Amino acid sequence: MNTFSIAVIGGDGIGPEVTAEARKVLDAALAGEEATFEYTEYSLGTQHWLATGETLHDETLEKLRGHDAILFGAIGADPQDKRIPSGVVERDLLLKMRFSLDHAVNLRPSRTYPGVSTPLAEGTEFDFVVVREGTEGPYVGNGGSLRKGTDQEIATEVSVNTAHGVKRVVADAFARAENRRGKLTLVHKHNVLTNAGDLWRRCVEAEAAKHPEVTWDYMHIDAATIHMVANPERFDVIVTDNLFGDILTDLAGAVSGGIGLAPSASINVDGTAPSMFEPVHGTAPDIAGKGIADPTAAVLSTALLLQNLGLDQAAKRIETAVHQQLTEWAAAGTGEQLSTAEKGDAYAARVQ
Ligand code: IPM
Ligand code: MN
Repeated sequence: MNTFSIAVIGGDGIGPEVTAEARKVLDAALAGEEATFEYTEYSLGTQHWLATGETLHDETLEKLRGHDAILFGAIGADPQDKRIPSGVVERDLLLKMRFSLDHAVNLRPSRTYPGVSTPLAEGTEFDFVVVREGTEGPYVGNGGSLRKGTDQEIATEVSVNTAHGVKRVVADAFARAENRRGKLTLVHKHNVLTNAGDLWRRCVEAEAAKHPEVTWDYMHIDAATIHMVANPERFDVIVTDNLFGDILTDLAGAVSGGIGLAPSASINVDGTAPSMFEPVHGTAPDIAGKGIADPTAAVLSTALLLQNLGLDQAAKRIETAVHQQLTEWAAAGTGEQLSTAEKGDAYAARVQ
């Protein structure tokens, strides 16, 4: 029996509600496997910061490093709560984890489900993954404010793109395309961001030469948003930088039937630290504590977690259970009324 040690960070808002359901489904999926999970809950996020002043101490980070995987809910301040400056937990907690644990690939799959309504034209079906770079771009925080508060103020955020960082995410994206439908789209804005755009294009060209069976094309980010709404079936694997990927995957969630269905994995591609699995959505303060948040994205994120640990059968069972259940709820028109726990229970019952 293999025992895996899993860190759980519920975080803020609906985060703890959806990770609780995700754990339920994970355990049910492991029932038939030669593996068990031991969970360690970490109290982190804005409430923890208000109570203790900790965003993420280095000692806590070191403890997280010792786990096999991290299950993450959501963090962020309620915009109504003026005690918490914007960016504190985003930068010093979430991004600190992604950067320190070297989460180079932020994987965000997106697909339609039969019967689940979307804002797209009737009958539109798609299935693609966005491979978002996870440790660079404008997220690095290079920049500052000069002459703050004056009319001469200059605020900068410099987008950092390294050959190492771009190459590894591009290599991951091509490997995925090879195992999917063999199509890759580089999304950037090289007509304006000429330096970074050129680096990304050269990295894609070099990697493409190693994968003759993968065809690739290029799209500016603004055009990509149109295609994602007008003909999303054209996409298979999208590779893009950190900020473009952030924006595009919210859109991907919306067109797939809602951000409540969108999972993600922040992957350490070299195996030097645990990867992290989290829904794409945020803390949803407006519905937090009401028991009505949709746990689907968190549950689908656990399938990515299981795959990452080599438990492919269990991962498949979760994906199949979610697909069947969503389709069934859509056909019966019953999904909407169910509570967070009822949805979690339904998924758990199906994966066994
Ligand atoms: C996401 C979130 C984060 C991001 C925020 C909370 C820092 O929006 O995971 O997509 O921008 O990456
Ligand atoms: Mn986002």
